[in-house]
Amino acid sequence: MTRLSAESRHAIRFTLNGRPVEAEAEPRTLLSDFLRQQIGATGTHVGCEHGVCGACTIVVDGMLARSCLTLAAQVEGCDVRTIEGLAPSPDRLGILQQAFRRNHALQCGFCTAGILMSLDHYLLDHRAPSESDIRDLLSGHLCRCTGYTSIVKAALEAAAELAETSKEKTDA
Ligand code: FES
Ligand code: FES
Repeated sequence: MTRLSAESRHAIRFTLNGRPVEAEAEPRTLLSDFLRQQIGATGTHVGCEHGVCGACTIVVDGMLARSCLTLAAQVEGCDVRTIEGLAPSPDRLGILQQAFRRNHALQCGFCTAGILMSLDHYLLDHRAPSESDIRDLLSGHLCRCTGYTSIVKAALEAAAELAETSKEKTDA
């Protein structure tokens, strides 16, 4: 295997879950590997490494991205969100995460980070999704354990709760 020289690495500056990060990566380093191995953000999982399973899904500049199909260098100057930034505080889960917990919407958890990132992003703009909307979204994620029923139920519950919360804010 050819080793790349130190000169071939370059600095990448970006924001990760609201915090500025600067690190080095080789030109071909995948974002998923970069996040996990160099930044230590291991909540982003890697399954297929071919853009199929959805386990590595994150948000880059407000858009969902498969981090296994993205180069680390591509996030230079970007705002990156991963599962580590989903909870509102270290000791409190977000509404969607709480719904997953209540509904036992995960078993091994391998797919869960990617699914949560996709659903969280979707629910920002879709407060009254149908079951079929949620199933459409989940078609980009493979889960080997749950059978999806509890995931769909959790997503619908979270959507209803988020809608209620934003209504209360508007009425206040
Ligand atoms: S690991 Fe990226 S989509 Fe499967
Ligand atoms: S909970 Fe195991 S793969 Fe989804």
